[in-house]
Amino acid sequence: MQQADGLANNHGTRPELHPNEPDPAGRMEKTMPDTPDDFRQVICERFAKVAVAPDRKGKLPEGPQRAKSLGYEPDEIDALPLSVTESFCGVGNPLGLGELRPGETILDLGSGAGMDSILAARRTGPAGQVIGVDMTPEMIAKAKRNVEAVGLTNVEFRQGTLEALPLDGNSFDVAISNGVLNLCRHKPQALAEVVRVLRPGGRLQMADILLHDDVTCEEVAKKGAWSH
Ligand SMILES: C[S@@+](CC[C@H](N)C(=O)[O-])C[C@H]1O[C@@H](n2cnc3c(N)ncnc32)[C@H](O)[C@@H]1O
Repeated sequence: MQQADGLANNHGTRPELHPNEPDPAGRMEKTMPDTPDDFRQVICERFAKVAVAPDRKGKLPEGPQRAKSLGYEPDEIDALPLSVTESFCGVGNPLGLGELRPGETILDLGSGAGMDSILAARRTGPAGQVIGVDMTPEMIAKAKRNVEAVGLTNVEFRQGTLEALPLDGNSFDVAISNGVLNLCRHKPQALAEVVRVLRPGGRLQMADILLHDDVTCEEVAKKGAWSH
């Protein structure tokens, strides 16, 4: 697993909060609803903005520069249409955690606007297949347009949650995940779903955010980051 190096904002404005971010100013109370459905609704609204308004003020760390700063190959990022990279909001590079081989079947968990799915599909080649799952309709719509724009036929996207993946069991060689497990309220259930859909011997290549017990709200505020 790759651990994020933080979520400092590159734009000089106060970053938006992720829905489960501990906020020293108390904004967390406004962004942490009580029920799972409300929680998902807040997250969907947040990521709908990432999909449709990538140029908005005070945005999350996102876009092509963010991808390059996380270890993606700059030439590979620059060669993609801006529509593919502008809504990237991952926290690491799951593709850098292990080789994706030609012919493999890949699941992209929380696939967003589809950047990781597209890069994965290029690695598996036409003999392989990539399926992305995301619960935000605006992300699914954008990911579908992006795949069409780059002319790939071995990628598809399904709307759904990690906690109840709309997929058959024993179907995937590799699951990749970039910044979504931290947004799942029921992490054991989401991970159980990943295990269900992976084939025996399947791999999970995951980049995510870990909040250490010893990190205080003051430290988060001072460093402008979630984790180190
Ligand atoms: C931080 S973004 C990362 C998106 C993409 N992996 C990337 O690197 O650009 C998290 C994505 O996960 C989706 N998401 C969050 N919680 C989810 C859940 N429980 N089930 C499915 N998708 C979820 C959001 O809609 C969003 O598109």
